[in-house]
Order: sequence, then C-alpha cells, then structure tokens
Amino acid sequence: MKHLLNILDLTTDEIFDLIKLSQDIGKNPKKYQDKCTHKQLATLFFEPSTRTRLSFESAMLSLGGQVLGFSNAQNSSTAKGESVKDTLKVVSGYVDIIAMRHPKEGAPYAGLETTQVPLINAGDGGHFHPTQTLADLATIYNEVGRLDNLVIGVCGDLKYGRTVHSLIGAMSRYKNIKFVLISPKELMLPNFIKKEFLEENKIPYEEVTSLEEAIPNLDILYMTRIQKERFLDQNEYEKLKDSYVLNAKKMERAKKTMQILHPLPRVNEISVDVDKDPRAVYFKQTVYGKYMRMALILKLLEEKNEPINIVSKKTFISKEKCKNPHCISLIEQELEPKVYIDKYGVTRCAYCDAELK
Ligand code: NCD
Repeated sequence: MKHLLNILDLTTDEIFDLIKLSQDIGKNPKKYQDKCTHKQLATLFFEPSTRTRLSFESAMLSLGGQVLGFSNAQNSSTAKGESVKDTLKVVSGYVDIIAMRHPKEGAPYAGLETTQVPLINAGDGGHFHPTQTLADLATIYNEVGRLDNLVIGVCGDLKYGRTVHSLIGAMSRYKNIKFVLISPKELMLPNFIKKEFLEENKIPYEEVTSLEEAIPNLDILYMTRIQKERFLDQNEYEKLKDSYVLNAKKMERAKKTMQILHPLPRVNEISVDVDKDPRAVYFKQTVYGKYMRMALILKLLEEKNEPINIVSKKTFISKEKCKNPHCISLIEQELEPKVYIDKYGVTRCAYCDAELK
C-alpha cells in the first residue's frame, strides 16, 4: 500500500511527475473531472484547518469523486475515547483513500498497520506536513522555473512549524541548495531535522535571528506563523509572537526575483502591504496546492494494489516510552512504544522521531 506520511515517501522523480500532472490538471481540468467517479475520500481532521481540508475536498470533487469526514474531533467517537488506530481501521472500510490531520506527532503511524487504503498525512502536530510541501514545491517550480540552485530562507517558528520540517526534507535532495534558518533562539530547527536532512545531505545552512540581514541574499523566503497551539507555556508564546513582520519596507532589500511563500494562515508575520507585491505568491500557492492534491489522489488510487513498503525505518518494540509530550504514543496508552536507531546511532521514537534520552 502506498501512503504519504513523510515527504521522503516520494522520490524526487515521483514529485516531478506530480508537478507535471498538476500543471496539466490546471490547464485541462475537464480532462480529469470524471477520473474518480465512484471513489470516496475521507477527510478526518482532528485539528482546525481551512485550506488543507477544503483543498482536499475540492480536489476530490473536481475529480468527480465524493467526500465524507469530520472537521472537529469532538463530533467523532474520539470524544468517547476511541483510538486513532480504531478510527482508521473503521473508516478504511468505508472509503478508498483517507486524508488525516491530528494534533499529536506520529499519529498517522499509529494507524498504519490497520489502515487498508492509502493514508495521507495532512499534518501531525509539529512534526510533518507533506502535502503542504507538495504545494510549496509546485509553487517554486511554477514561479521560479527550477527546484535547484536556490538560497532558501525559512523564517519564524522552525521548532514547531511542520511545513518547514517537510520542506527542508524535500529540498535537501536537490542540487546546490542553501538554507538560511531565521528564527528566535527559542524556536530553532529541531536537531533531528538538521542532522537527518541537512547534514546527512551536506546542505549548507546558517542559523540567524535577523530577517533584515538575511533577506538580500534569498531566492525564496518561506514565512511561517508562530505556532501558538504547540506552546506548553503561553507566556513564552506571548514573548515570541511578534518576532518577525515582513513589510513593504523590508521587501526593498530583497532581490527583484525573490519569491515569498507562506503556507497560511498568516497572523501578523506578513503585513497586508506586501500582498500587492508581485513577488508575493502565497495566494497562488493555495491554488497549486489543490492541483497537487488532485495529482496525489490520482497517483495513490492508481497504485492501490501495489505493495510498497514506505516505512523505511527499521523499528523495534521498546520498553522505554517516548518523552516528547506531543507524541501520540503518550496519549494512546494501548500503542506499543516503538523505536529505531538513526544513522548516527541515536535511538528515536518511531512515531514522532524524538530522541529517547
Ligand atoms: C499550516 C499547518 O497547518 O501546519 N497550514 C496549512 O496547512 N496550510 C501552517 C500553519 O498552521 O501555520
């Protein structure tokens, strides 16, 4: 079964094919309008969403398919104490494909063994968000014309920003990429992303705190929201929430060709005076995202019967529990703690990738 839980479940060739397919879908929507007749997509959203859920639903409807699901876990049996594993098992008996968003890191991995249809991770806590990355890659390719030879600045909440984690994973596989990681000290990129994606692929990066100083060198600026809902201490959020504001004045220092991306929703990190700048492509990004989700649904349904093992990590049952307070394995008591050993010999939780100290 082919699922998409982590952007690295797709090869760069597969991603390129999806981009090409999404371009064709954008140009010839009628050609695709009956491709998923009699197919059903479930959107299981245990956490708030506008774009991701609606773009998945719009994608399936534009393919001639049908959608069902929930957008509030309180309306589902989760409120009665049902596990993610059981929910996925049941729903996979009703539909052909599932897109799930969950506030806990590693949640989709919890249901992998019992899910009998392709499962798409539509965001798991502060961990990964592979379909946003598909939207981001299509935007970069369509607006800049390439996915290599780029200096990419990512700015904001790099600690909890799942879109950033998946984007860095994806971009680390292209040639001549450099990252400038712009964040407050408290919200720097987690070590496992730095090691597994950047250092492993010998991608040069610098960690800085000033957006003004970094901006002139960038080809892409990926702005992100400070992820309020992930903070265990709301005073800490209050302290950091206004760390960065991109405005027209700061844009004067940027290259004429620099493109501004943002997964949205924005709070105040991009001022509205930037919206009319032709370099602001964050609203176009939402449209590319729909076409990429259409392409992904087509691809995953096509490959439905091909047994592809996507769990590249060799995992072991462990006696030791994960200590990441955001990990699904701490919430769902019946889940067996599982670990894997990374390339550096560090033992990590197989659900959320946190180090087991
Ligand atoms: C992002 C998310 O949910 O992680 N939004 C999205 O899917 N477009 C970014 C965010 O919420 O800040």
